[in-house]
Amino acid sequence: MKKIVFICLGNICRSPAAEGVFRACVEKAGKESEFQIDSAGLIDYHEGELPDARMREHALRRGYRLTHRSRPFRPEEFQEVDLIVAMDADNLRRLRRMVSKASDMDKVVRLADYLRHHSGTAIPDSYYGTDHAFEHVLDLLEDACPSLLESLTVTEGDAQPTE
Ligand code: 4NP
Repeated sequence: MKKIVFICLGNICRSPAAEGVFRACVEKAGKESEFQIDSAGLIDYHEGELPDARMREHALRRGYRLTHRSRPFRPEEFQEVDLIVAMDADNLRRLRRMVSKASDMDKVVRLADYLRHHSGTAIPDSYYGTDHAFEHVLDLLEDACPSLLESLTVTEGDAQPTE
């Protein structure tokens, strides 16, 4: 069982949406029993809240029902999870400041590094944005999440020979 937690600042826009999109990818692949998927924020300002209504609406139009409740990430979670997936450089900086063991640094990855069809180094904050910003976040998540899943499930036996 791999434990993955998606991280953004408030845990009401990007990371709960990433959690929902990644969960749908895992379900489509029939791998629900292999993953524990969660999300958390780096501030506790929205603790207990459902995702932002705009994100819930945009996500639902694509078939993702987001029911996560915002919660702050705890530094102790570094010991409990396998992968911590950050949305932007600020998230990365804040997470790295919480690291107490050098090996924990390897658990932190940037979701934008898994983009295939889009370029960029971040899943940009849509909180102060327009409808377009929310759609753009979902486009990026739907691009990166399948390749993140693939990177976590490819085994030697699955590898295709290259010619
Ligand atoms: P998120 O968006 O990090 O994608 O959940 C934000 C939500 C709330 C705030 C900032 C970003 N805020 O400052 O309250």
